[in-house]
Amino acid sequence: MFEKYRPVYKKDYQQWMTKQKARLKNVAADKRRLHYHIMPAIGWLNDPNGLCQVHGTYHIYYQYDPFDTNGDLKLWGHVTTKDFIRYEEHEPFLYPDTSWDTHGVYSGCAFIEQDEIHYFYTGNIKLFDRKDHDYINSGRVSNTLHLISKDGFHFEQKQRLMTNTDYPQDISLHVRDPKVWKHEDTYYMVLGARDLAANGCVLIFSSTDMNAWSYHSRIQTKQPFGYMWECPDLFEMDGQYFLISCPQGVPTQNFDYANVHSCTAMKLKGSLTDGFQVDAIQQLDRGFDFYAPQSFVDENGRRILIGWMGIPDADYTNPTVADGWQHALTIPRQLYSKDGILHQVPLAELRQLRTHTWQLDTTALNRLSFAEAVYEMEISGKDIVDMELYLSKEICISYHDHVFTLDITGAGCGRTLRQVQLSSLHDLHIFSDTTSLELFINEGSEVFTTRVYPNHPRCVTLNTRQNVHIQLHSLRAHQIKEAYV
Ligand code: FRU
Repeated sequence: MFEKYRPVYKKDYQQWMTKQKARLKNVAADKRRLHYHIMPAIGWLNDPNGLCQVHGTYHIYYQYDPFDTNGDLKLWGHVTTKDFIRYEEHEPFLYPDTSWDTHGVYSGCAFIEQDEIHYFYTGNIKLFDRKDHDYINSGRVSNTLHLISKDGFHFEQKQRLMTNTDYPQDISLHVRDPKVWKHEDTYYMVLGARDLAANGCVLIFSSTDMNAWSYHSRIQTKQPFGYMWECPDLFEMDGQYFLISCPQGVPTQNFDYANVHSCTAMKLKGSLTDGFQVDAIQQLDRGFDFYAPQSFVDENGRRILIGWMGIPDADYTNPTVADGWQHALTIPRQLYSKDGILHQVPLAELRQLRTHTWQLDTTALNRLSFAEAVYEMEISGKDIVDMELYLSKEICISYHDHVFTLDITGAGCGRTLRQVQLSSLHDLHIFSDTTSLELFINEGSEVFTTRVYPNHPRCVTLNTRQNVHIQLHSLRAHQIKEAYV
């Protein structure tokens, strides 16, 4: 849309948006628009960024390319909410408007201290001076940038903290996605990276003032595990350190790592002072569309996680592209740890979306002829052995011989099936939106997130010979005050 090699300023965006009235209308009219998920007003969305809560208001930023439905030049889109039910959309927070970030204000985080929000993100630069750049070991600059805001809307200036020469020498030019936290008197930053041998890892830097950063240590698996780890998020929960990150290109093993890129939670041993080792690896989500999640602790002390309901480089598609938009964020989830495993449960606030609740058993559910697309369903039973749940003719969730399967072959635009082995099944919590599904199994110890595009009408039916209890809730849409209508 713009010449690729020049900065894009707020005024460019504003001018461009005022000319998009017809397109915005077209997007808004798409029946595939989701009812309670954050989506781009127009164009493309990917990773959530800078998640934080300030004086009661939650700020949710995201990678946003309003100019191209397939995502190219990234800005930081911005919505706020106080309750996860009523949202306000704002003009983008960050633009690729300096020589440090001209080819994309890439992913980053927010860190709050003394009433100031510190943002850290990656300024992406691509060099076009030669034709033979591989953009891995040549032709790319990954700057770590910092800025301070009091209110989440305004800031004074961008400051460059680090560039490629500040990262260890055995690391390629792929270094990005800073996440910062404080432990005792020291600030720490994790950065996702790819080393010169094409192995993914996470670099840890430390600082005493948030300005001068020095290399501290790294986290890497003993055996190769993907060629690049994106979007790291390191935190302690109940005395256990976890590293969430997105290792790219991990080969599929049976049911595991079935997507082109993965999203994992690594249970760490060791310590910040002596360095961390990877103790166990968990897949954070087993659906087709989940990537680059970010967590933060809110003013109530909850660790909330939001992910990108999409994935890069997949061979399946989203028909929404034809209508001028692509991708969404997941619903917000609360994280907790149990038996060394991270669990995700839908944020309690979402219950306010419920408009009607049915308490049912299997027969009553099948008699109800429920044909909505936007609902929440909780199925619980003592120890479910066999089950087939159809959400439409082409969406089947089943459980047989301890294998849980989500099969959307007929409705997936290239998505087929995803599976997991469970030792038991006693709880399944489903969030269904017009074109998405989020399945939380056994109190969120396994999660499947996917986009889905059924052709046949919805019709919920359940086959099981066991006694299960079903709570079905119809949901209303969240409210969003749009920035450009
Ligand atoms: C993950 C990612 C990040 C990067 C951003 C660019 O999806 O590739 O590593 O910062 O997206 O949009």
